[in-house]
Amino acid sequence: MHDPRIIVALDFSGAQEALQLARKLKPHLCRLKVGKELFTAAGPQLIEKLRTMDYEIFLDLKFHDIPNTAASACRAAANLGVWMVNVHALGGRRMLTAVRDAIPHGSTKLIAVTLLTSMDQNDIADIGLQGEPEQVVTRLAKLTKDCGLDGVVCSALEAVSLRQQFDADFCLVTPGIRPTVDQQANDQKRIATPQQAMRNGASYLVIGRPITQADDPISVLQKIQQEIDGI
Ligand code: C5P
Repeated sequence: MHDPRIIVALDFSGAQEALQLARKLKPHLCRLKVGKELFTAAGPQLIEKLRTMDYEIFLDLKFHDIPNTAASACRAAANLGVWMVNVHALGGRRMLTAVRDAIPHGSTKLIAVTLLTSMDQNDIADIGLQGEPEQVVTRLAKLTKDCGLDGVVCSALEAVSLRQQFDADFCLVTPGIRPTVDQQANDQKRIATPQQAMRNGASYLVIGRPITQADDPISVLQKIQQEIDGI
């Protein structure tokens, strides 16, 4: 079975643009990520359309709620037939256990966001979390693993130490990727090339603008795929 490592972030405001890009890409080369903006605008119908085009979907809605509500939301997401769904690890042990129980192993992959990469030391102190961001990330990743989830979202830099602590089957999904040909960081602070991220232990790379804003998205996608082939 094919298992493309690249997840293209469909950060668009509506279905039309998303479908236009999906038609230019190929499902054997990438999966697609649908986030809060696009899903709020275009809903389950869009997921269905992308699935009929043979794409596997990462539904990036980062659920964070009381255990019962988060579990029901994850179940509803899994019922859409998506490949991957996520929650915030900050929802805590009981929420993580409830969402795990709601989705059987081996169907939809269930991962957690540890700390948003937009948060720095001051932000985490403000909300009363102790330690450096890296320590908080490690603590939340361990909690996620402990509760039986399939992996975490993390930066390519955090992937190094997380990969040392977790087996290869624990998914590390890394955004903030910038190909060597396109070192435009946009608003990303800490970036890595696709090769660096894979060598650091990433399982899947989330890539948005370098592909979505390219003149020829499929050729950028193919080039990145070639660069990481065999790593
Ligand atoms: O365009 P770009 O490659 O920066 O897009 C990255 C995608 O990954 C966006 O959808 C963004 O919301 C998401 N993301 C991120 N950093 C995180 C988590 C998700 O950039 N820590």
